[in-house]
Amino acid sequence: MESKRLAGEKAAEFVKDGMVVGLGTGSTVYYTIMKLAERMKQGLVFKGVPTSVETEKIAARLGIPLISKGEINKIDLGIDGADAIDPDFVLIKGGGGALLREKIVAEAADQFIVVADPGKFVPNLADVEIPVEVIPFASELTEKHLKSLGCHTKLRVNNNTAFITDNGNYILDCKFEEIKNPKELETQILRIPGVAENGLFTDMANKIITLNALGEVVILA
Ligand code: 5RP
Repeated sequence: MESKRLAGEKAAEFVKDGMVVGLGTGSTVYYTIMKLAERMKQGLVFKGVPTSVETEKIAARLGIPLISKGEINKIDLGIDGADAIDPDFVLIKGGGGALLREKIVAEAADQFIVVADPGKFVPNLADVEIPVEVIPFASELTEKHLKSLGCHTKLRVNNNTAFITDNGNYILDCKFEEIKNPKELETQILRIPGVAENGLFTDMANKIITLNALGEVVILA
């Protein structure tokens, strides 16, 4: 989609020589990664931290140097997509199932830029399911706990079998009737034993790159 390409490519301009860059997952940040590979050929020097096996493969194919697991100490800039963005810049992520590594990277990054087509903006986060990554052991109990917070849960499936994340876990997509306090909900979900991470990203986005009604790239901060 053209709007994804324009937003994604714009974010690549924020990468400077010597940076360690968190590389997100999805079809929008894909364009950022492609642009970074192009800039690399023109002399840009940087290293990437991929947020998923999928992104790792793309980056490796493009010859982007990656920091190995166990050596990730500092991330200067993270760039990633989102499934939903509310008026306070709270995000819902995890549509691609990569939320756990995505949140580790977003949280660690000095700056976090979100790239999103205009369709990702929602007035109310409760309109969108929140992906919750849970460890398979006794996941029924974890699901019961989640339901007690007032949501409907749905095990994510792929080819008629449970979707397995890069970390060997399941995803429960959780639909709430209303979300009054996203920050509190993010913490409440995390407190449930068996939850590895949830897709609510509060207080993380420093900039959002998207398109306005005229189709021009805009940077919201
Ligand atoms: C993956 C994600 C993605 O960032 C999110 O799904 C957005 O993807 P896209 O850019 O393809 O719309 O959270 O876990």
